[in-house]
Amino acid sequence: MARHLITSALPYINGIKHLGNMVGSMLPADVYSRYLRQRGHDVLYICATDEHGTPAELAAKEAGVPVAEFCAQAHDAQKAIYDGFQLAFDHFGRSSSPQNREITQEIARELKANGFIEERAIRQVYSNTDGRFLPDRYIVGTCPHCGYDKARGDQCENCTRVLDPTDLINPRSAISGSSDLEVRETKHLFLLQSKLAGEVESWLDERADNWPVLASSIARKWLTEGLHDRAITRDLDWGVPVPADTWPELAAENKVFYVWFDAPIEYIGSTKEWSDQDPDHRDWRSWWWKSEGDVHYTQFMGKDNVPFHSIMFPATQLGTRSPWKRVDVIKAFNWLNYYGSKFSTSQRRGVFTHDALEILPADYWRYFMMANAPESDDTSFTWEHFTATVNKDLADTLGNFVNRVLSFSRKRFGDAVPAGRAAGEAEAKLGEEIARLLAEYEGHMETIQFRKAAAALRALWSAGNSYLEEKAPWLEIKTDEEGAALTLRTAMNLIHLYAVISEPFIPASAKAMRDAFALTDDTARWVTAEEAKALASVPAGTAFTVPPVLFAKITDEDLAAYRERFGGGDPAAA
Ligand code: MF3
Ligand code: ZN
Repeated sequence: MARHLITSALPYINGIKHLGNMVGSMLPADVYSRYLRQRGHDVLYICATDEHGTPAELAAKEAGVPVAEFCAQAHDAQKAIYDGFQLAFDHFGRSSSPQNREITQEIARELKANGFIEERAIRQVYSNTDGRFLPDRYIVGTCPHCGYDKARGDQCENCTRVLDPTDLINPRSAISGSSDLEVRETKHLFLLQSKLAGEVESWLDERADNWPVLASSIARKWLTEGLHDRAITRDLDWGVPVPADTWPELAAENKVFYVWFDAPIEYIGSTKEWSDQDPDHRDWRSWWWKSEGDVHYTQFMGKDNVPFHSIMFPATQLGTRSPWKRVDVIKAFNWLNYYGSKFSTSQRRGVFTHDALEILPADYWRYFMMANAPESDDTSFTWEHFTATVNKDLADTLGNFVNRVLSFSRKRFGDAVPAGRAAGEAEAKLGEEIARLLAEYEGHMETIQFRKAAAALRALWSAGNSYLEEKAPWLEIKTDEEGAALTLRTAMNLIHLYAVISEPFIPASAKAMRDAFALTDDTARWVTAEEAKALASVPAGTAFTVPPVLFAKITDEDLAAYRERFGGGDPAAA
């Protein structure tokens, strides 16, 4: 038994999350956490909303509510959706928490004390009307390249060119619309990452070879491009304030830390939020302070997040000279597209998380997303592929097996698992096959390869179907009642085994399968190889019920309706 700390990239507070966000961070982290918990490990799965930064401030402004209120509501709304997907966080915190503020400020103080933060003067746009400095995004104007008149100071949305605010023609404030702007000198804090580059490199060398290749290749590529010093403060109302005891002048100017500085620190902050809820039994330091325990730390994220997690956050941690726990393994994901191109919030293209739950139960989505996780390449969601997967794997292979076996047995033998004769050759062969596939499944879970793990799980379900077809208890019963009873008892044991091992992927259906049997030990404790071979965990005489159909098939009419509602693409293009 080991201690596993697991985090998934913190979802931004603003904006609706689509399936592509979830498949690359929270969902795989949940599947992995559930697996490790079932195997008896001590697991802490931490996530939170990433609440600071300009997008949150702008979204609140648009909604016409104070930013703190906006974030509180948006946090609850996201949490409700994640509950719906059965994401079993130990804690889902908020980067705007007092815990995060305290830890972020403390880390900044340490970095300064160790010579890794310095103040530098830069020239920045000041709005006289608004009485404040404007972050690049808060300045709008006409793009010098394409003439688009709502280009932002950091980038033109129309032609995607990266801009400097001084490039804009007719620049004005996005807050007030005022064009009474001037360039003034102001001070900001810089994190001297260049001084930490060597250390980060040797740290990475020690471990990145063991990471799944996507994360390690991105990390190395970034490192060869060099680690540059980086401004870590901004002029915003909303953020972790620069501590006045250490930088009185900047604090007086209301500077806050840049969102990418405090966001990863919230992994720690959120753990402390969790711990503060029950301080007698929970100890956040035992997860984060290396001297206090042997923890294995795995992070999950989309590929765009890898540089921050593999280089910048470790640099921040290293620079404190305190024994912060650093990541052991980074598991990164490519993009999930919608019919071959990006999900788009503004064009409402694609499937968003709240809509997904409205039309079908979480397990359908969980299984599909993990079985098609964008691990080695970008992948595409199409309604056709989704329908085919649900109907074949979930409805036909797993769901049908469960209902067929239980209903038939009840009809012929009543409400308890029948005894029948002792296991024979077919059962021995089946047991060998199940144990072999289970070992394969476990191997893929240990190395965090979800598509392969899902394929192994599917093969386990199929093995049950092959056994049932081969033994054909509905024929057997006519000539050999004892034989038919043995077949059904064995098949029921498979159902119980499926309940246990499918839990990480489809927890609700797994519970329905497990609850079909009146067993005293109703935990989803993992199965040993011997148990898998023996297929005898559910003894004859155990009472059972027939659960309602586990997975309803998606009909052609449903498919047409989904395509219509969500804007299908050209399936050939996917
Ligand atoms: N909010 C960021 C995103 O969605 C991820 C932040 S991860 C953290 O891309 F570690 F910085 F919090
Ligand atoms: Zn442009």
